[in-house]
Amino acid sequence: MSELNLILLGPPGAGKGTQAAHLVDDFGLPYIATGDILRAAVKDGTALGKKAKEYMDAGDLVPDDVIVGVVAERLEQGDTRDGFVLDGFPRTIPQAEALDRSLEAMGRRLTAVLLIEVPDDVLVQRISGRRICTDGHVYHVDFNPPEQDDVCDVDGNALEQRPDDAPEKVKRRLEVYHEQTAPLEDYYDDLGVLQRFDGTRSPDEVREHISATLSTLRLEESA
Ligand code: AP5
Repeated sequence: MSELNLILLGPPGAGKGTQAAHLVDDFGLPYIATGDILRAAVKDGTALGKKAKEYMDAGDLVPDDVIVGVVAERLEQGDTRDGFVLDGFPRTIPQAEALDRSLEAMGRRLTAVLLIEVPDDVLVQRISGRRICTDGHVYHVDFNPPEQDDVCDVDGNALEQRPDDAPEKVKRRLEVYHEQTAPLEDYYDDLGVLQRFDGTRSPDEVREHISATLSTLRLEESA
């Protein structure tokens, strides 16, 4: 099997985490989400968490040098041999350049950058209704509700709202996306690996579109 080295790109609330869960199920790839790594570090009170907390609380990005090494180290682990799903990284041009260097040093390259596009007004509505369980399963009170209110279908954990999903923090996170992360769309388009998806469609439709695109890419690769 050829490698599937994937990045999920898109603004907060676009559905990256939702689609990542499908990619993990459909392709058995390890999932590397920098937001989850940082939230776990904050919760555990590690040195990384202490450095990251104030930035995350404000809706800002943590400095590049705090996160770049964490991802490089994670990509070197054996379970990424057949590919990976990166969610939330890179988020700046220097992070993308650092990732290029890491992959080059490993003799690997990106298969695709999956950009999920959603307008800001829809994002605000999605984020305000998002509920997550402590193991990271994601729901929405209207668009993807759990069977029982505030209880995770998968493991029965209580569902809660992320602290950075408060309205004023969401506004800042969207500004940060447009200023610092959106330039990556041109960066990866220029490299010929960007694939765009209409994230306003239902989660199942987005999943099918991504799946079809990846199948086509694999066919092209093996031709
Ligand atoms: P991170 O955890 O990466 O958050 P984010 O990028 O803001 O993305 P979200 O998790 O909010 O959204 P998502 O696109 O995964 O959407 P979801 O699938 O949940 O980062 C958090 C913070 O960590 C950053 O602000 C920063 O401080 C720091 N950080 C992380 N990485 C960093 C890095 N590389 N450099 C520096 N700092 C970093 O979906 C949202 C909701 O919509 C859910 O309720 C879902 O059920 C629903 N939904 C999903 N798809 C659909 C659909 N198609 N239709 C209707 N509803 C849908």
